[in-house]
Amino acid sequence: MNTVTVSAPGKLLLLGDHAVVYNRPCLVTAVGQRMQATVSLVDEHTLSLEAPEVGIYGYRKALKDLGGDTIPKNVQFIENVVHNFNKRYPLSKGVIIRTKSDFSSTFGFGSSSAVTVCVLKAISQLCGQRLDNKSLFKLAYQTILDVQGVGSGFDIAAAIYGGILYFVGGGEKIEQLSVKKISLIVGYSGVKADTPSLVRSVAAQMKTAPALYQQLFDSSTYCVEEGRKSIVDRDFESFGRMMNYNEGLLASMGVETGMLSAMIYVARDAGAYGAKLSGAGGGDCMIAVAPPEKVSDVKAAITKVGGQIIEVTTNVQGVLLV
Ligand code: PMV
Repeated sequence: MNTVTVSAPGKLLLLGDHAVVYNRPCLVTAVGQRMQATVSLVDEHTLSLEAPEVGIYGYRKALKDLGGDTIPKNVQFIENVVHNFNKRYPLSKGVIIRTKSDFSSTFGFGSSSAVTVCVLKAISQLCGQRLDNKSLFKLAYQTILDVQGVGSGFDIAAAIYGGILYFVGGGEKIEQLSVKKISLIVGYSGVKADTPSLVRSVAAQMKTAPALYQQLFDSSTYCVEEGRKSIVDRDFESFGRMMNYNEGLLASMGVETGMLSAMIYVARDAGAYGAKLSGAGGGDCMIAVAPPEKVSDVKAAITKVGGQIIEVTTNVQGVLLV
């Protein structure tokens, strides 16, 4: 076997955003939009990469030169994951990688994490290193930290395990919920958020009011624990209430934007059980949960204030060989 193709899902954070960076829990769902990587082994000791969705064509580097500070931005995750694998399990051959995406990297659906997981799974498979999910998580999460310096790893977990997960920062706990499906309305703000800088801005704010932030994180934990019970009971009204509380906490952390809050408030006014931003804030997407008879009103309200509805499915499988 010289070539394998692997795909992994994107994600949306349901509850616990930002607090999860401070070892608190979150709930994350994988979504139907997937990344794909086709990896081949070749005799030449180089990494070759084609990633058209992020404008990378004909990128080549000798395996011995991988890593370092001069990697183009859109290549960083892939080059670093190959580098990390190669450090641990030295490659006897070179690799050619081609990626393909179902979704734009601007939505904040976790394309970087999903592609990192795909490439790692494919290379380990080709090299006969059958890494289990825990080992995949460890190496992929290390790669995210090497590139971004910050992050809880929830997006890596969603790409590996799929479904809906209860996740504690750093992968301390990764539990698959028995309920894998939730009907989500997703509104894109039109602005791409820069997650690492938002995480750093929360860290800076926290220094000015550490005791307050501990309470915000404790309250976030409350929302996640209650939300977990509600989702397992399929009580989406209670789940929506937790989303609304959680949004208040995120607004206190300063990561809401005018556009996100406009979409969130009109969604609630149009009959959603709950609505909140999803992820780092500062842009990207908001999510809402609504009774079935209100879904089209909620979507129309979000569109009216300039949001773009993105259709997503949940109950999707984690990383898999295609
Ligand atoms: O911006 P996203 O969708 O990648 O989500 C970031 C979520 C944070 O909690 C802010 C950071 C993290 O790594 O958990």
